[in-house]
Amino acid sequence: MAVDIAIIGGTGVYDPAMLDDVQVREIKTPYGVVSLQVGRYRGQEIAFLARHGAGHSVPPHLVNYRGNIWALKKLGVSQIIATTAVGSLNEKMRPNELVVPDQFLDFTKGRPSTFFEGGDSGVIHTDFTNPYCHRLCKLLMTAAYGLNVPTHEGGVYVCTEGPRFETPAEIRMFRQLGGDLVGMTSIPEAVLAREAEMCYATLSIVTNYAAGISPNNLTHMEVVDAMADNIEKLRRVLFRAIEL
Ligand code: HPA
Repeated sequence: MAVDIAIIGGTGVYDPAMLDDVQVREIKTPYGVVSLQVGRYRGQEIAFLARHGAGHSVPPHLVNYRGNIWALKKLGVSQIIATTAVGSLNEKMRPNELVVPDQFLDFTKGRPSTFFEGGDSGVIHTDFTNPYCHRLCKLLMTAAYGLNVPTHEGGVYVCTEGPRFETPAEIRMFRQLGGDLVGMTSIPEAVLAREAEMCYATLSIVTNYAAGISPNNLTHMEVVDAMADNIEKLRRVLFRAIEL
């Protein structure tokens, strides 16, 4: 059976719980071998890929984004739901709430972020008027609404290079530019998925207020703890969206 849907699990989402008959697959790509899992959910084959590897061993700036998207494309995947932990710049988007972003601001610096590098791969300028797949975003919203899980429809995801957290001055700047959320992984993932002509949406969980807004200094542990508190809710919305 073809694998049409993939979940990319971000921080705190390391295992494909809810999938049956899970098998590990090693997929060869021009960017190296990518290890992922394929399992079954209510009769559908679903791929699951832990973005940061087993036990969060790969930092955001070193994730093999091109290999990951290539591997999913090779499997036949056409729809990707990715989870991301984010800090919030917008007091209406509070910790423990979900957001389905609809725009991004790219502040990454040194990441390979395209499949199109000239030569054989060509020079191709991809449209990003609607950076996230509208249909999948709507499905996520419908799922969240049906389950009564407070979820914000739309938001501007600011992607930073990491792995450090931001300075309060950076956060003030991002706010002035219209950012709502800050994270380290949606770019280039969303970009590559679009280049590969796949439908891609992100389900973000607000784990903290961003630096300078939060009353305390940030720690990775705080983000991981907040993810652990919210993982069940996130999974329910995600799998409900897959059922719809
Ligand atoms: N900044 C960047 N990435 C994050 C944050 C943050 O505050 N929280 C979770 N991921």
